Amino acid sequence: MTAPTAPSPTAAGSGANATQSFRSTDKNRGGDTAASPERVDTVVRELLLAVHEVIRRHEVTYPEFQAAKSWMIEVGEGGEWPLFLDVFVEHVVEEVQAATQQGTKGTILGPYYLPGASRLTSPATLPMRDGEKGTPLVFAGQVRDLDGNPVAGAEIDIWQADDDGYYSGFAPHLPEGNLRGLVVADDEGRFEIHTIQPAPYRIPTDGPTGKLIEAAGWHPWRPAHLHLIVSAPAHRAVTTQLYFSGGQWLDSDVAEAVKPELVLDPQDTGDGNSRVEYDFVLERDEATTAA
Ligand code: DHB
Ligand code: FE
Repeated sequence: MTAPTAPSPTAAGSGANATQSFRSTDKNRGGDTAASPERVDTVVRELLLAVHEVIRRHEVTYPEFQAAKSWMIEVGEGGEWPLFLDVFVEHVVEEVQAATQQGTKGTILGPYYLPGASRLTSPATLPMRDGEKGTPLVFAGQVRDLDGNPVAGAEIDIWQADDDGYYSGFAPHLPEGNLRGLVVADDEGRFEIHTIQPAPYRIPTDGPTGKLIEAAGWHPWRPAHLHLIVSAPAHRAVTTQLYFSGGQWLDSDVAEAVKPELVLDPQDTGDGNSRVEYDFVLERDEATTAA
């Protein structure tokens, strides 16, 4: 990877923005569901037991315990909990949910979704700067149901990093809404989106999440990806990501969110541009279709 030429957003900036974004949209994410005392007792007790077990097994010392406390305080102060949790924990929550969903594979939402992107009618070009860097990409396909029928009224909410690996709304040098859009498919669920190929994403290395990654000798990279929420009336929405065949970090995503079904193989169209087709399959939402 070449170093980004744009001014580098800081971990504190990205973290604070991610925390603020999460707080203002958590109702949309089902984050306000009250759990019963039985559920809290079961899950939290076992979580603590798992922590106790690790402490015993590895004979964790007082200095290590106090260092962990300092680190957690820093994660909170830097607003980095969304970054940390979405990288290291969300993929398992998604795995549990995925067991109940058919159709296109889902994967993690991540910390950089922003609701309310501009509504665009397919064929659509995502908002981008004049001369936006990166290989132009045409991403086209169809939204169908499990029986192969076209889904009318489908919408593709898409957001992505730019060619330096930064997300608008979180990196202060980028215009608001850059490389984000809510694309409305045609009556046959067909869509065509013009964008650029994103670059791999690196977790900010200057904050506590980055410090932990360095201290553990891990790497901070996610492979290049497009984020998508595909939805349609009376269908269950899927939150997913699409990756790029042959891309760096595909086999070692720090967020463990790559699935083989989600890898695109765009073809060079000969003029410096690329194109790829990908169809989404949505399950009917029994809750909204029940008589
Ligand atoms: C994080 C960033 C991403 O772009 C993503 O898709 C998942 C997680 C993060 O920094 O936590
Ligand atoms: Fe991402």
